[in-house]
Amino acid sequence: MNPWTLSVLLLLAGPLGADPGWHVEYPDSFCVVEGSTATIPCSFTHPAGLRVGRVVWCPNLQFCQRLAANVYDSKIVRADRKFRYLGDLVRNCTLKIIKTVKRDTARYRFHFETNGDGYTGPKGVIVNVTNGEDVKVRSSVTDNVVKEGGQVTLTCTSACSFHRLDVHWYRNGHALSETGPALHLSNLTNDDTGNYTCSLDSSGQKTSAPWSLVVVEDEGRFDWRLTVSVVVKVLLAVFLLLLAGLVYAKRSAPGPEHEIIYSEVVG
Ligand SMILES: *[C@@H]1O[C@H](CO)[C@@H](O)[C@H](O)[C@H]1NC(C)=O
Ligand SMILES: *[C@@H]1O[C@H](CO)[C@@H](O)[C@H](O)[C@H]1NC(C)=O
Repeated sequence: MNPWTLSVLLLLAGPLGADPGWHVEYPDSFCVVEGSTATIPCSFTHPAGLRVGRVVWCPNLQFCQRLAANVYDSKIVRADRKFRYLGDLVRNCTLKIIKTVKRDTARYRFHFETNGDGYTGPKGVIVNVTNGEDVKVRSSVTDNVVKEGGQVTLTCTSACSFHRLDVHWYRNGHALSETGPALHLSNLTNDDTGNYTCSLDSSGQKTSAPWSLVVVEDEGRFDWRLTVSVVVKVLLAVFLLLLAGLVYAKRSAPGPEHEIIYSEVVG
């Protein structure tokens, strides 16, 4: 690490030996499409010298004061593993919610207890589960008609598109091998013509309305095969004309030796 980076880090960390104090850091809000998995990043600090003994996540409660309401409690083994704690007892409080449903929408708070006091991060994180009805295909071109050899980039958007999503693409209902929020199609041919849809999970639910692409032949484009065939035809015609002219000239020219040569050529 170079000295500059180190000094910036030290500045960020505050004066050496400063007590980090009680704090929980969450994202402001977190949007997730129903049925997919949400991993909510979270970190926490506490005054030095304390040891964390218990960590809890709860929805819609200021201090996680109701045991039964907790979605995760390190002291309680739950059969329901929908809410999984990916954090630790040191500073990471990341929470994973498997297969979110609409009713998971809530403000979640993280609470931890030490051998001294306990603390709940007051702000919490609002987890918003949307039903994905707003999934759309957006295209880099305004027109659906694109010339052969051209390119187009399709993006799959939804209210949650600012998070990395598991996006799948389809042409005329058949899954394409490309995944990810953007589908880049270049060097277009007629085979690319079709209706494109995207979906936010592999089950093919939450699928967008189709976006249809029409690839048309580009008439203004230089087609070397066509050019070569025209040139060959012209050359052939010129050659035949010359040949005909030559034969005609020889026929009309006097002299027996010419006659003999001609009949030899023909015979
Ligand atoms: C916290 O834990 C999660 C899951 O193990 C990990 O992806 C993340 O990078 C960790 N965050 C920090 C700040 O260490
Ligand atoms: C694409 O969709 C349009 C109507 O939305 C339909 O008329 C057309 O037949 C579809 N094309 C293919 C290849 O399925």
